[in-house]
Amino acid sequence: MRLTSAGRQARTISVALRDRPYEIHIAAGLRHQLGDALAACGISSGTKVLVVTNPAVDGPYGAAVSASLKTAGFHAECLVIAAGEEQKTMAGLATIHAACFRQRLERGSLIVALGGGVVGDMAGFAAATWLRGIAVVQVPTTLLAMVDASIGGKTGVNHPGGKNLIGAFHQPRLVLIDPETLETLPQREFRAGMAEVIKYGVISDVALFERLERHGPLNSVSAVGAELLQALLEASTAAKARVVAADELEGGLRAILNYGHSLGHALESLSGYGTYLHGEAVALGMHAIGLIAQRMGAWTAAEQQRQARLIEACGLPLVWPSLDVDAVLDCLQRDKKVRGGKVRFVLPRAIGRVEITAAVETALVGEVVSELMA
Ligand code: NAD
Ligand code: GLY
Repeated sequence: MRLTSAGRQARTISVALRDRPYEIHIAAGLRHQLGDALAACGISSGTKVLVVTNPAVDGPYGAAVSASLKTAGFHAECLVIAAGEEQKTMAGLATIHAACFRQRLERGSLIVALGGGVVGDMAGFAAATWLRGIAVVQVPTTLLAMVDASIGGKTGVNHPGGKNLIGAFHQPRLVLIDPETLETLPQREFRAGMAEVIKYGVISDVALFERLERHGPLNSVSAVGAELLQALLEASTAAKARVVAADELEGGLRAILNYGHSLGHALESLSGYGTYLHGEAVALGMHAIGLIAQRMGAWTAAEQQRQARLIEACGLPLVWPSLDVDAVLDCLQRDKKVRGGKVRFVLPRAIGRVEITAAVETALVGEVVSELMA
């Protein structure tokens, strides 16, 4: 079945996993067609569906999604959980499990995650664990969740000792992206999502990077405009789909998706979670690792400048807050990607190409980070 919206056909990107391939549909207005999309991917009408969302998303979009499910014959109920990273805990997960129990979800039932990455990760993990695993469909409503969190099957919650320490790989059956839902997203959240879009340009897509460069300001949905928005969603989801299909469980290549993230995570945790949005921290992390790569002679000053200009065009920061440099270096040692005590960085080599390396001198990291601080 072809999904269309306002007369236009949805663009479909495939995540070509051998055992569990799935599709990502992207088109304005698709939220009204969730029921048809589920039917088209083989989920029978009459299936019980638990929609997990939060108040900021339920308000503008909950009714349309529920109506679409009911019209297509699904038995849908909605669970509205509180918003925020601080809800992404085992206690938050228990709230979703309680709703699964109340609704008597069965092995053939489905959870729909309607929201940003927090809802997506939590609802995905609830689906991974309820009855040892039921299906989940991701309907992301933040730019970050559209281009990153909803694709690839990483689900989980935070532990008091660190972010995303508890989780499971659980691929969605389908990802449905409706760019119109970004119209209500706070601009700061939109800009944070643009950091991940820049990331895809640097790690694997020169054409995407150059198209963004040609556009001018990219700091809001309206500045980006509907045409470029659709194009960047297609390019970013395709980039993520390629990497996930090649390395589902992060045995190697998938680590390139963490470009800018090691330093970004250190900054996020040292400045107190919530001070910087994830995408803002990633922008600062990309700027820092770019400068490190430049000093190592691995990429040129011109490329570093191009990346910095794009980060600025998205209204994202380049200047680090004042932090204890030793604490940053210490934090890096606790990164998930450390092997045998060596931090493995994703180093940019050219726009569109990165490499994973442990050959970055700690002293250079410290020198660059302190230089970038306000
Ligand atoms: P989020 O889910 O907290 O959403 C940001 C804010 O926007 C929230 O207040 C939310 O209520 C609101 N919101 C969402 N959609 C809206 C809309 N359309 N209109 C108005 N308000 C809306 O944040 P996020 O940036 O989407 O996700 C961050 C989370 O994603 C983190 O927990 C991170 O660990 C996770 N993540 C997961 C992966 C993965 O591969 N699973 C990848 C990246 C990030
Ligand atoms: N967000 C990184 C990954 O999915 O691997």
